[in-house]
Amino acid sequence: MKILETDRLILRHLEPDDLDDLFALYADPEVVRTIPDAPQTLAETKEELDWFLHGHPRRPELGLWATIFKPTNQFIGRCGLLPWTIDGQDEVEVAYTIAPSHWGQGLGTEAAQAILDYGFNTLGFTRLVCLIDEENVASIRVAEKIGMAFEKASQDEIGPFWLYARNKPESS
Ligand SMILES: CC(C)(COP(=O)(O)OP(=O)(O)OC[C@H]1O[C@@H](n2cnc3c(N)ncnc32)[C@H](O)[C@@H]1OP(=O)(O)O)[C@@H](O)C(=O)NCCC(=O)NCCS
Repeated sequence: MKILETDRLILRHLEPDDLDDLFALYADPEVVRTIPDAPQTLAETKEELDWFLHGHPRRPELGLWATIFKPTNQFIGRCGLLPWTIDGQDEVEVAYTIAPSHWGQGLGTEAAQAILDYGFNTLGFTRLVCLIDEENVASIRVAEKIGMAFEKASQDEIGPFWLYARNKPESS
């Protein structure tokens, strides 16, 4: 099921046939260097894929979505919205991962901006966040480009991260 579309991207629910592409994404050390909880094996990747087949099982409007590059119909990433409880507060994260073959073309920002707009305008959230490894300069830049600002350093059972956040603009 399609979730949203941008000039160059379609974001849709993950499908069983995405398994090889998703595994190839996570098999790239450059991709997972700053994603500490990324699946490491085909079995773990399948578990994650199955978990998100129809959106997040407990919050079906959220989830990680296949990110398809329209010009070639290629699977180039998984992006979406994820629920977390951080320091006792419920948050929704704008999550984005793009394959290195497609880095540096503005696609991470294009996906993140569309997800942010979808979260605010379609799903009605008033606040969205990003959880970022402090060394992940590219991800910090994407977060800043969609209007997020550093809020605090935090950590959960997976490890430390920087929390970036943004409230819904008054006018949108
Ligand atoms: C973060 C990520 C999605 C960015 O994707 P992308 O499509 O290359 O991003 P964009 O092309 O939209 O670039 C966004 C900005 O980041 C900058 N940037 C990209 N890679 C960079 C790097 N390695 N170092 C510094 N800046 C970088 C770009 O220059 C651009 O800023 P600018 O417009 O001011 O020049 C991608 O690097 C990725 O998937 N990384 C691995 C997974 C990951 O870390 N996900 C986020 C977890 S929080």
